[in-house]
Formats: sequence, structure tokens, C-alpha cells
Amino acid sequence: MNTRREIIKGVAMTATGTVLGAMASRQSATASQPIAQSTPLPESAKLLSGKVALVTGAARGIGRAIALDYARNGANVALLDLADPTGGMAISGYRLANERELDEAVAAVEVEGVQALKLKVDVRDYAAMKEAANQAVRELGGLDIAVANAGICIWTTIEGANEQQWRDAIDVNINGVFNTIQAVIPQMKAQNAGRIITLTSIGGRQGVVGNGAYPTTKWAVIGLTKSAAMELGSANITVNAIAPGPVNTPLYRSQGQLQSMGLKSFEEQDKVVGQFLPLKTAPALDPEDIADTATFLASDRAKLISGEVIDVALGYNAAYTA
Ligand SMILES: NC(=O)c1ccc[n+]([C@@H]2O[C@H](COP(=O)([O-])OP(=O)(O)OC[C@H]3O[C@@H](n4cnc5c(N)ncnc54)[C@H](O)[C@@H]3O)[C@@H](O)[C@H]2O)c1
Repeated sequence: MNTRREIIKGVAMTATGTVLGAMASRQSATASQPIAQSTPLPESAKLLSGKVALVTGAARGIGRAIALDYARNGANVALLDLADPTGGMAISGYRLANERELDEAVAAVEVEGVQALKLKVDVRDYAAMKEAANQAVRELGGLDIAVANAGICIWTTIEGANEQQWRDAIDVNINGVFNTIQAVIPQMKAQNAGRIITLTSIGGRQGVVGNGAYPTTKWAVIGLTKSAAMELGSANITVNAIAPGPVNTPLYRSQGQLQSMGLKSFEEQDKVVGQFLPLKTAPALDPEDIADTATFLASDRAKLISGEVIDVALGYNAAYTA
């Protein structure tokens, strides 16, 4: 039986087609290994039994970890992803997930004994996102939780970005989150209950050198999250953001990230970034560390929390957030 972490790490390792430097020693499973169920939780410990969740960007990385943890906690999950290494965008320095990875994520959720729905959809597509939410409602019997997780990074300075790169970042990271939120509102309002979780970043809390479009969009996600929390509170819908620090996914462990920081290796990345991390337990977070908070926010335990941004960042945020 694989641990949750092994199932996710297999994907992170193969997503760029190579074993990723500093991550290599920490990986023990590959995506091509058979998918096994994680250690099951007792029914009484499941936080999301009978709920229905929609997770965007669910083929790999943080989205996949969230989808799996929701499944493990008893939720049926719609896994939505572009599942196209570029999607016609100016992606460089890494690639997005492919359809095989989305299929693996769907299979891994099913292995947890819940229903999974595969949605090969682009969050930039307003109409398609509305239909995706409707399909989740039809096929999974409702919609209680939505996680607007899909995101991209364009690894160029503000000065060096071309128009296409700037528009792509805004289109996925801001418009995609808006499309996701707006698509799920009707059903959540009809149920008079809902949990919406967005993914911002520590880069949404400060300026960042080397990839200016990314922090720009992540600041916007916080504004969107807080405004939606205020609009939707009367319908008993909470809206919160998670702001991760460095997470072991293909986005962070990418040539693009190294290049934007002027670094040569992932070991060097760990050394440089590590100087800013008060907690020294690991050089970076794992996707499951973010999933833990996403499950908490989706659960009854967080029913009175809305409009919040929770940093899961090995303490990095202590330097700049009140
Ligand atoms: N990894 C980190 O260090 C880190 C830190 C802070 C915030 N985040 C945020 O967390 C979220 C997940 O990041 P990750 O590290 O898992 O990245 P990732 O690149 O591993 O996964 C992102 C997923 O989103 C999908 N996606 C991209 N564009 C899409 C689109 N237009 N429509 C549908 N799906 C699309 C990709 O195919 C991929 O499966 C992102 O919003 C990212 O900005 C990541």
C-alpha cells in the first residue's frame, strides 16, 4: 500500500521527463507503478464524507494531492485539467500536465473508493467551465467544494515579458480563478452552502524578482478571494485562499524557476531559498502539506473562516505578513 506522499511524488518526478535534482533522493514511486490505495481512514475520521468537490489543475502537483486527500476523506471528486503540455500558451522552462497524468490522477482517486469525474477542460474557457460545473453536479450529485488551483508561471521579468506571456498568466491565474468561482456559485447558492478555496502564493504577498506576471496575478487572487467571501457569505459559502511557499512540484522544480533566480541546480535552489525559511524541517513543502490545509478549509472545522489567506510556507510569511 503506497502512502499518499509516494503516489503524488511519482507524478512530480516524471512530469518533466527527468528525475529532478534535489528531489531525486526523496522520490520512491514513479507514475508508471500501479496505483495503490493509501492507508484508509476510519469512517469516523473522514472529514468530507458524501461531499462533492471540483478541483482544477488536478492532474498533478498540488491539485492532485488535494483531489486525493479529498477522496481519502470520503468526497467524490471532479478532477479538471487542461491536460496539454502548453495549451497553446507561451509556456517555457517547464511543461504543464498531459492527459496520461490526468488519467492517473482520476484512477488514484477511484482507488480510494469514491467516484471520480475526469474533466479535460481549460479554466480560461468561461463557457466550458460553466458546463464542467454543471456536469459535476449532474454526475456526482451536487457541488459542495471548489478548489481553484490551476495556475501557470511565466518565467520572465516584467521588462522582458512579451504581450502573449503577460496575457497567458493573467488569463489562467486570474480569469481562470474567476471562471471557476462564478461557475460554482449557482449550485452552491441553491444548496445554501459551499466552500471555495483558491491558490495564491507567498508571491501574492510581496514583490518578486524575475517572473513579474506571476506575483501580479497572485495578488489579484487574494483580492478576488476576499471580495467573493464578502459577496457570498450570506449564502453560507466560505471563500479562502492558501498561500504556499516553495512546493516540490514541476512548477517549482523547473528550469524556469532556476533561471529566474539565476541558479544552476536544485541543490543551490534549496540553499538559497532555505535562508528565508524559518522552519528547517525540509528544503521545500510537499503537495500533501498544502492538501492538509485544503481539507481543513473544506471541512466543518473551518465553517466560520472566510476571506482568509492561510500561508503554508515553512514560516517564510513571518517576515512580511501581519
Ligand atoms: N509549487 C509551488 O511552489 C507553488 C507555490 C505557491 C503557489 N503555487 C500555486 O499552486 C497551484 C498549483 O501549482 P503546482 O505547483 O501544483 O503546479 P503544476 O504545474 O505542477 O500543476 C498545475 C496544474 O494546472 C494545470 N493547468 C495549467 N493551466 C491550466 C488551464 N488553463 N486549465 C486547466 N488546467 C491548467 C496543469 O496542467 C497542471 O496539472 C498554482 O496556482 C500555483 O501558482 C505553487
